[in-house]
Amino acid sequence: MPRFAFLGAGNLASAMVDGLLAKGVVAQTDLSCLGGAGRSAPDLAARTGIGLAKSLEELTAKADTLVIAFKPQHLAAADPRLAALTAGKLVISVLAAKRLDRLATTFPAARNLVRAMPNTPSRIGAGMTVWCSRVPLSGADRTAVDALLGALGHALEIDEVLMDTAAVVSSCGPAFLFEFAAALRDGGVAGGLPPAMAQALAVEGVLGAARLLARTGADPEELRRQVTSPNGVTLAGLRRMEARDFRGLMRETVLAAKTRSEEMSRDA
Ligand SMILES: NC(=O)c1ccc[n+]([C@@H]2O[C@H](COP(=O)([O-])OP(=O)(O)OC[C@H]3O[C@@H](n4cnc5c(N)ncnc54)[C@H](OP(=O)(O)O)[C@@H]3O)[C@@H](O)[C@H]2O)c1
Repeated sequence: MPRFAFLGAGNLASAMVDGLLAKGVVAQTDLSCLGGAGRSAPDLAARTGIGLAKSLEELTAKADTLVIAFKPQHLAAADPRLAALTAGKLVISVLAAKRLDRLATTFPAARNLVRAMPNTPSRIGAGMTVWCSRVPLSGADRTAVDALLGALGHALEIDEVLMDTAAVVSSCGPAFLFEFAAALRDGGVAGGLPPAMAQALAVEGVLGAARLLARTGADPEELRRQVTSPNGVTLAGLRRMEARDFRGLMRETVLAAKTRSEEMSRDA
């Protein structure tokens, strides 16, 4: 397994380090990190026992794979020495809305570039990451990518042209579901439930439904049909969702987010 070096040591890098160590696929000595002027890198190194690099040279010297995990806005001001320091290495970026062509201007001599988009459930190892690479991955590099992204949960390789839409569904999807859970809770409160009870019921309902969907592999429509009796309670609610064009609203929601993602990728 290659050595991973993390440039940026915040929430996402921490989740990857935690996942890699928990799965036992790498040792602490195979991982190192470097941050900006703040405390995240020394804190991550102290908490997990991974190496703390003092410079970009030290970070990249022993690592075969560099994970770029700072904020997207840091890319424009990235250290120009990165071009030479990443020559011949695998570079994996998790920066939102930074396309492979853009990454190639900062890491022109990398042996390959991977653009990955994880989502927030990655923090608890329940993530879904979509990713693509600049050229097809070698067997060894695929093993490295699988290990790194597998540390966050599930991962799916896709064509870059699908990235904006796929990232909306998998990465914005949790935010849309949080909004749905909040709306379900508020509906319960409107019906007379205490807020804390309504929230607990909404959370467990969403969680159990998602697990059932994943475990059965059934279409959502099929599971919905199974709980909908003719002229029953669920049907009364679903009819109201249909009358207010809930599906049309979700389609517009996804397409609006996709348009914004494309704009941000173009501006990058
Ligand atoms: N969090 C998620 O669930 C999630 C999901 C998908 C994608 N992402 C992507 O992951 C990336 C990181 O997100 P995050 O939530 O982990 O951010 P974060 O917690 O704010 O961490 C940002 C990290 O970047 C470091 N940094 C700042 N300036 C730097 C520089 N000039 N050179 C190197 N490192 C620098 C910071 O170090 P200091 O503490 O020293 O300032 C910190 O370690 C973003 O690009 C985001 O688009 C995150």
